Amino acid sequence: MAGREQRPGASRWVPKTLGPAALAKGVQQCRGCELFKNATQGVPGAGASDATVMLVGEQPGDAEDKKGEPFVGPAGKLLLRALEESGIGTTSVFLTNAVKHFRWDPGRAGKRIHKGPSRVHVAACWPWLVAELDTVRPRGVVLLGATAGAAVYGPSFRVGARRGLSLTWPDQDPAPEWVPEWVVATAHPASVLRSRNRDEDYRRLVADLGVVSELIG
Ligand code: URA
Ligand code: SF4
Repeated sequence: MAGREQRPGASRWVPKTLGPAALAKGVQQCRGCELFKNATQGVPGAGASDATVMLVGEQPGDAEDKKGEPFVGPAGKLLLRALEESGIGTTSVFLTNAVKHFRWDPGRAGKRIHKGPSRVHVAACWPWLVAELDTVRPRGVVLLGATAGAAVYGPSFRVGARRGLSLTWPDQDPAPEWVPEWVVATAHPASVLRSRNRDEDYRRLVADLGVVSELIG
């Protein structure tokens, strides 16, 4: 178990004057937890800086780690397709993750095996999500999967029981100054890719995003 001194949390790296470029630079410099050590680079959120909807995933994957941008791999492709089909589109969205550095284990032949972040990493990285909300000030937030759900609502949150509903942003500490009007949780696009019922799970993802499309009218 890494000591507390290894995870001071991201807050001291968050710039006082917010803006997409300042946040992107800050994420690269962040030493808020140990995950920066084995990653190629940090992956800050990206998209429209005045987006209507902010979508929150788990952490960057292999492709995102190499490119430095969120949702550029297979799960991202599926997500972009679902955004188009749902009517939300991709022009007024901001894509980000609960954790900004890729956590992985070494696999065979130099392969990097995705290893989901722990609660401690999500907690350490939380100030970046707050800063992104206060920068983009989206009308609503979409939580993709269990990690994003737990980041906002705590570990007892169950996506399966709450998906596709218009929820309210909870009280928490530290909280953003900007509180979105609503939150919608849904499945993570990577779980759709892995599913044995891929077509059905994809349709459910699009249906949940359709709720968001209605909310933004
Ligand atoms: N999965 C995520 O949660 N985020 C990404 O950016 C890519 C895949
Ligand atoms: Fe900082 Fe988050 Fe990266 Fe940890 S994962 S070093 S808290 S940006």
